[in-house]
Amino acid sequence: ASSLQSTCTTAQQDAYSYEEYADIKWEELGFGLVPTDFMYVTKCFRGEGFVRGELNRYGNIELSPSAGILNYGQGLFEGLKAYRKEDGSGLLLFRPQENALRMQMGAERMCMPSPSVEQFVSAVKQTVLANKRWVPPPGKGALYLRPLLMGSGPVLGLAPSPEYTFLIYASPVGNYFKCTYGRREWLLHLGRILPASLYTEGVDPIHLLIGDGVHRATPGGTGDVKTVVNYAPVLKAQLQAKSKGFTEVLFLDSVNKRNLEEASSCNIFLVKGNVISTPATQGTILAGITRKSIIEIARDYGYEVEERIVSVDELIDADEVFCTGTAVVVAPVGSITYQHQRFEYKTGDQTVAQHLYRVITGIQMGLVEDKMGWTVEI
Ligand code: COI
Repeated sequence: ASSLQSTCTTAQQDAYSYEEYADIKWEELGFGLVPTDFMYVTKCFRGEGFVRGELNRYGNIELSPSAGILNYGQGLFEGLKAYRKEDGSGLLLFRPQENALRMQMGAERMCMPSPSVEQFVSAVKQTVLANKRWVPPPGKGALYLRPLLMGSGPVLGLAPSPEYTFLIYASPVGNYFKCTYGRREWLLHLGRILPASLYTEGVDPIHLLIGDGVHRATPGGTGDVKTVVNYAPVLKAQLQAKSKGFTEVLFLDSVNKRNLEEASSCNIFLVKGNVISTPATQGTILAGITRKSIIEIARDYGYEVEERIVSVDELIDADEVFCTGTAVVVAPVGSITYQHQRFEYKTGDQTVAQHLYRVITGIQMGLVEDKMGWTVEI
């Protein structure tokens, strides 16, 4: 932190004068936007490389109506979290270099320049420090960082943008599926009123619906890239599933229409005895950083982990199912519905999912020894 402090901007110095905590109800955090104080912004003109970024007040940005991101979806996003250590001694990021590398890989696919790993990680650290009062108290959630890389220069014909913006904003978050605010909004959108129990799932198991005739990705497409254009196309299926009381949609592959791919916001794992299986990424599935970490943790704890094609038929035999993602962390799946058949799974304290959840969140919060050197302290 000291080297960052010596190079900090006025904005960061402002941040140091704030109270330790922002004045919000930390218990009520879900996964809705809570605007924070500062965002990091830098631009790159015509292949010159990104200039040194700055921390600006969080707020709207100005874009040309013909910006590449608005017209042709030339954009990527990332997601990572900063946790406050239990003993209050510091803040921890979880594998930020992995996000930087994934952004570089995606940028290559989307014909965009990308920040170096060093610039990315430094920008994340600066954003966290400038918004430190928004990092929830230990056990109440995390500060979610949302790095964006977008074609911000004007285009008319289909072509890469002449200018790019790399931006990071932050929001304190709690449980992804609690999401009270978003859920009410969706229900209003649908003009429906559903039982109150559906508003507040908290850490309860989630319920998945396998989409019929809707696919998230195709071979040769961008399913393995965290591009903004992969997300809006699943909204319709997601809203329909939610209107029927499901939490999320689970997608099958678009060729055989038999193999599990991922849910709209997270990867999926099946558990049978001591064996944990997850669909191999193979170009159509996002290589989640939580997915990769859970695979390593599970192997370290003696589970056998298989990355392979996982058929929808295997849902019948699984003991447990869980989803992973940065936002979601490890979410137990209570049921999956496929062609009007509902498969139910073991959830609760004595499950593999709970075990893995405790270990990964323990590492992220500095409560469990970080043998792999994944956390970065700031
Ligand atoms: C994340 O888990 O960080 C994501 O980017 C998924 C998003 C749909 C919330």
